[in-house]
Amino acid sequence: MYLSTRACYREPAQIADGVFWVGANDCVKDLFESLWPIPYGVSYNAYVVVGSDGVAVIDGVDEHLTFEYLEKVREVVGDLDRVRYVVLNHLEPDHHASTPKLLNLARNAEVVLTPTAARLIGTLYRIPGGRLVEVRDGERLDLGGRRLRFIHTPWLHWPETMMTYLEELGILFSCDAFGSYGALTEGLFDDEVNLEFYLEEARRYFSNIVLKYSRNVLEALSKIERLGLRISVLAPSHGPIYRRYVDRILALYRDLSIPKRCVEVSVIYGSMYGRTENLVEQVARRFRERGVDVKVVDAARVHPSYTLSEVSNSGALLFIFPTYDASVFPPVKEVMNYLQVKQAGRGRIAAVVNTYSWGASAKEAVEILTKAGFQVVEPVIQLRPLPTEEDLRKLEELVDALAREVLKYEKCSE
Ligand code: FEO
Repeated sequence: MYLSTRACYREPAQIADGVFWVGANDCVKDLFESLWPIPYGVSYNAYVVVGSDGVAVIDGVDEHLTFEYLEKVREVVGDLDRVRYVVLNHLEPDHHASTPKLLNLARNAEVVLTPTAARLIGTLYRIPGGRLVEVRDGERLDLGGRRLRFIHTPWLHWPETMMTYLEELGILFSCDAFGSYGALTEGLFDDEVNLEFYLEEARRYFSNIVLKYSRNVLEALSKIERLGLRISVLAPSHGPIYRRYVDRILALYRDLSIPKRCVEVSVIYGSMYGRTENLVEQVARRFRERGVDVKVVDAARVHPSYTLSEVSNSGALLFIFPTYDASVFPPVKEVMNYLQVKQAGRGRIAAVVNTYSWGASAKEAVEILTKAGFQVVEPVIQLRPLPTEEDLRKLEELVDALAREVLKYEKCSE
């Protein structure tokens, strides 16, 4: 589906008494962070909270949507001099490239941020001096009938991150946490959109950006519980706002954050001429016959963004690939490298099957996977493009050994 910028535009909207969405849909970028495909766009959700004593703007948008955002803030607030605070839950430019321009226009506004963010902000933005207000964990800001409470939640997914809780209405502005890809073209709320699509995209967003910080997600979730925060509305900075299915997104995040080893093998392969693919079909069949769920990923045709999401809970990863220029077949190597960056240390096993003719690359694969924290099981198999009976017997034995190991793991439901 192609999203035109026209279809993407969304008017500012009141989401609760004195609370407004002033964000923007991005249907221009093809890659989020220049890494992750966003065929259905992404939203940058920003909010305005209006109290009797002042107005706070919570977060902003990516650079190229600054004008649209400023117009929306102005439409809601009227005179921008009414803005007393701009809250920065997270400094990354998809949320705050717009903030310097807002501050130029909202001349009375101060910038509310964590002490860590205050130390970092000068590396990212030119903010006029003397306008930073550092808030401690748990500190409150009274806007008159609307009190904001700041909850430090570091490393979601930068060191300076926090969430902002609007006490009277139970709205948690969580920034990246609980976010998803997908522009908000149908509506703003979870009960106005195709929720299953956004939950699937939340899963992909999580595995691409947040999974590495799973422990911090669990700490943040525990903190929310410990503080007894009643969450009526969960308002992340990407994707839908949750009001009806708050429990679903909270449960999804908890589930995704707990590392699992499921009775499932992901077979990640590359095949230049179809021979390796034939082997993969045999391997997948044999796993299934032994009661193991199999996910098969053609690394040359599935973007690593989706692969990371697919394989994150597989108890074992089996890589089958040819050698290319005396190295691991590049798309398979790319997946290995992403796993090293994004999913290291989840205590899983991996196996390597390399097809080769004039050069072998199994050793290189073992090195990358070991660095990525996998225990690489023996034997590492090297097959000729025309495998012998002996080659195939070794491959079957490897599949059987992996199946026996994985069957000891957790049966996970999707
Ligand atoms: Fe949505 Fe970490 O920025």
